[in-house]
Amino acid sequence: MRFFVDTADVGQIRKANDMGVICGVTTNSSLIAKSGRQFEDVIKEITSIVDGAISGEVKATTTDAEGVKTNLTLIFNPNQALLAARAGAAYVSPFLGRLDDISQNGLDLIADIKEIFDMAGDIDTQIICASVRNPIHVIECAKMGADIATVPYNVFEQMMNHPLTDQGIEKFQADYKAVFGK
Ligand code: G3P
Repeated sequence: MRFFVDTADVGQIRKANDMGVICGVTTNSSLIAKSGRQFEDVIKEITSIVDGAISGEVKATTTDAEGVKTNLTLIFNPNQALLAARAGAAYVSPFLGRLDDISQNGLDLIADIKEIFDMAGDIDTQIICASVRNPIHVIECAKMGADIATVPYNVFEQMMNHPLTDQGIEKFQADYKAVFGK
């Protein structure tokens, strides 16, 4: 499973890109509004940072896609995903956290879409696990074989931290000092 970062905060996008783990970015109108900046400015800046897929939310004024890759967002059931795939979407974004919020299992939706796409055998549409809220979501999506998870920056931080790692670093540094005296 590959990673996108889910934010319109260019500082966070730079940090995630410098970590070397992302190959794309997703934003939406709410994230852009939170940044307090103009849509075009943010998207332009993101393209100067990340060499990969950038998903920005647009208001469709035509049904002809003109060769632009489309990410069908706000997917909440498997039929929406299947229809989007058959209509030629490059990506579908099931929002798992928002389903959890209303006591439906968001991970089940990812599993259903994955099974249906695999079963079809002729679908190239990639599954972006979106509305990811925690590291468990990421692990479960990876185990299901989802193509991409778009992850908020704070969740990347949670993913890389472990108290035993911190304790181990402290001990190694102390022992290094004891051996080398600096
Ligand atoms: O990628 C979709 C994401 O931005 C939505 O996340 O946390 O607002 O449900 P959330």
